[in-house]
Amino acid sequence: MSNIEQTLSIIKPDAVERNLIEDIKSIFSKNNLVIKNSKKIHITKEEAAEFYKVHQSKPFYNDLCAYLASGPIVVMILEGVNAITLYREIMGATDPKKAEKNTIRKLFGISIDKNSVHGSDSTENAKKEIEFFFNN
Ligand code: CMP
Repeated sequence: MSNIEQTLSIIKPDAVERNLIEDIKSIFSKNNLVIKNSKKIHITKEEAAEFYKVHQSKPFYNDLCAYLASGPIVVMILEGVNAITLYREIMGATDPKKAEKNTIRKLFGISIDKNSVHGSDSTENAKKEIEFFFNN
């Protein structure tokens, strides 16, 4: 039986600024990830802090929140077979320098902070992150 899942994708400010939205969307469609909902928004630092609160104890937390709020982003619900794992594979490692060839972060990421995209890391977080942006 196929395992259809939904996951949350964010195209981060560095990628929106460089007009990479369509390039990234075409990688989703090539990999059979369907965009079920999408919106371009500009969130506040407080909203970013709430979204990334699992990282609140990390030394990079403040910079991370300021960065996500620094410009427009595109948030999307992606759906497909094993979408959570599949999307993490096509994003590549968090640090673009360590990401595999042809992954989104290898192709477009600038640094560990400006790594172009975010994706949920588990079923539980996918549900929470989708609710954060779409069900309120
Ligand atoms: P993301 O998948 O959006 O989740 C948290 C983000 O923190 C991560 O991508 C990185 O962009 C950012 N980040 C900054 N520094 C680090 C670090 N040292 N380790 C992991 N993530 C980091």
